Amino acid sequence: MSRTFGEIVCWAQRRLGGAGIEGARQEARWLVAGLMDIEPGELITRDRDPAPAGFAAKLDPLLRRRAVGEPLAYLTGNTEFYGRIFKTDARALIPRDDSECVVELAFELMPAGETLGVADLGTGSGCLLVSLLTGHPWTRGTGVDLSAEALSLARENAALNSVEAKADFFAGSWADWTGWGEVDLIISNPPYIASDIIETLDRDVRDYEPRLALDGGPDGLDAYREIIVLGAEKMKPGAWLVLEIGYDQKAAVTALLEAAGWTGILHRRDLGGNDRAVAAQRPVG
Ligand SMILES: C[S@@+](CC[C@H](N)C(=O)[O-])C[C@H]1O[C@@H](n2cnc3c(N)ncnc32)[C@H](O)[C@@H]1O
Repeated sequence: MSRTFGEIVCWAQRRLGGAGIEGARQEARWLVAGLMDIEPGELITRDRDPAPAGFAAKLDPLLRRRAVGEPLAYLTGNTEFYGRIFKTDARALIPRDDSECVVELAFELMPAGETLGVADLGTGSGCLLVSLLTGHPWTRGTGVDLSAEALSLARENAALNSVEAKADFFAGSWADWTGWGEVDLIISNPPYIASDIIETLDRDVRDYEPRLALDGGPDGLDAYREIIVLGAEKMKPGAWLVLEIGYDQKAAVTALLEAAGWTGILHRRDLGGNDRAVAAQRPVG
């Protein structure tokens, strides 16, 4: 007799729990719902339905991949960020909930109804850029990334969220991008993990997510030093720089901004209560 979806969820939960995955039940439900192409919340109404032949065999390779640490978002192929769906795979960092407060801070600085130019330095999956373009319909924007793979994913996510006509992309370093002086606001979540901390991260991150997206140099601040100085030299008066920071980098990044002459410095915390976003303005006069 074939197993029900509820029984399959329990079986998957045991497999994931046995492999040391925290939140094994919830992950089992997400994977099963993903294969059924339904929302996880709908599973409760299908728990007693018999699963079709071969369902467990399709789930099995996903459980094996998750058991060795491959991120869940690579297996489901998408994640939600700021209320929208983004494709996720090994081409770029998986969007994090923590980054939503960085988008919120940018919106505080973007007057409604005004046509604005924005850029996202180190755009990765495109989650920050796409969120700005969808949430502020008058805006056009550029995503910049050194990784051609990341940019291909960002392009797909712009199309998935119907903002491809308002987005363009620059493949290369932010140091070589020539648009600094043309935009009103730059958002960036640069790599900010100190190099020797990377080996101590969870294996899901350490072994699977792109190193280029994580490694911020010996003290984690290399990208901030570059972006803060380039922005101070090249951005127009009155333009804003909005940065995601590590939970322990508020003082260091604020000092870099002050030393480079930025003003009006603002800070925000993420939902976990950690310092996570900093904004600063080029002096107007
Ligand atoms: C922490 S990830 C952020 C990705 C995405 N913005 C997000 O918030 O999920 C940093 C990104 O910066 C890119 N990057 C690193 N160094 C860069 C550089 N010098 N110029 C442009 N992009 C760079 C990496 O390829 C990576 O996609």
